[in-house]
Amino acid sequence: FEGMTIVELAKRTGESLSSLQDILLNVGEKVESEFDPLSIDIAELVAMELGVNVRRRHSDEGAKLLARPPVVTVMGHVDHGKTSLLDALRQTSLVEKEAGGITQHLGAFVVSMPSGSSITFLDTPGHAAFSAMRARGAAVTDIVVLVVAADDGVMPQTQEAMSHATLAKVPVVVAINKCDKPAADPEQVKLQLASEGLLLEEMGGDVQVVEVSAVKKTGLDRLEEALLLQAELMDLKARIDGPAQAYVVEARLDRGRGPLATAIVKAGTLVCGQYVVVGSEWGRIRALRDMVGKMTDRATPAMPIEIEGLKGLPMAGDDIVVVDSEERARMLSTGRTRKSEKDRLRKISEGRTEAEESSE
Ligand code: GTP
Ligand code: MG
Repeated sequence: FEGMTIVELAKRTGESLSSLQDILLNVGEKVESEFDPLSIDIAELVAMELGVNVRRRHSDEGAKLLARPPVVTVMGHVDHGKTSLLDALRQTSLVEKEAGGITQHLGAFVVSMPSGSSITFLDTPGHAAFSAMRARGAAVTDIVVLVVAADDGVMPQTQEAMSHATLAKVPVVVAINKCDKPAADPEQVKLQLASEGLLLEEMGGDVQVVEVSAVKKTGLDRLEEALLLQAELMDLKARIDGPAQAYVVEARLDRGRGPLATAIVKAGTLVCGQYVVVGSEWGRIRALRDMVGKMTDRATPAMPIEIEGLKGLPMAGDDIVVVDSEERARMLSTGRTRKSEKDRLRKISEGRTEAEESSE
């Protein structure tokens, strides 16, 4: 509805002009003229009042697009070495070395390559988190690293991870881990993967496979190269200028600092001091910290940052939008809270009806 006038909106929704004016009055917006275009915030509020689901998407039309680093999620069967692999990769991160190896748990980290390229790794390996975020429209992951233990092969959660990636249309790079083990049989694993329908590069497909050992730290550079190559094929670009569009990866409550959200910017630039609405919460960004805890005043696409200053705790997958003022932030947050409460009640009553029907 962004940019529409109230007259156009009435035509589009079949609502009467006066009921739309009532809604606008309710959300505290004076309409000076019937011919003024609605702002994106107001458009969202009106849509919510009408019970229409909206997802914001800033137009990148005409904007300058620049190459951005890939955002990578590691998935695989239990005990196949996801955490070990992330830890090993984290240690190769140059930034971390410079900061004296202080590991701050951010839920995401960046590995910078000598070539100047970098890769953002999400530290949330759970399949549940991945699907939850996808279900909420938070498509932050560009590439999935599928970890398969060389001594164990394809297991139920390996298959599950593969289907998650396929459904989300996210390309996979396979890391055959634990190749240091005497019982390791990477060739066998490849055959298994192929029979699961994965089109491996060495068999004429386009899925790259890298043999690694998280414990012995071998093959990590080749894995990073494979990820960069995959990213290059995908030609990942983002708008840098303009308001940020970002997603929450993880949120926690800190005793002294209050609610903290780890976020990844998808497009635009997030700037310290801005008013944001995060899911149903809102706040003014008091501090932005990078992965080593250093204060920064802005965050660009694919850069993980920690946001301080929110009034409440958001959820993983929540979207972050920038608004002009505190008033707008409160208004949108209230509107979204009301909407999600309405949706929740409707779901409960629908669930009850279904339960009643099936018990009859
Ligand atoms: P969950 O989080 O429980 O699903 O497990 P995970 O996939 O994170 O596996 P994790 O990294 O915890 O590793 C499981 C076990 O495998 C640990 O005992 C690791 O030390 C061992 N391990 C991981 N990578 C390697 C490897 O490359 N070689 C060998 N020999 N052992 C490994
Ligand atoms: Mg783990």
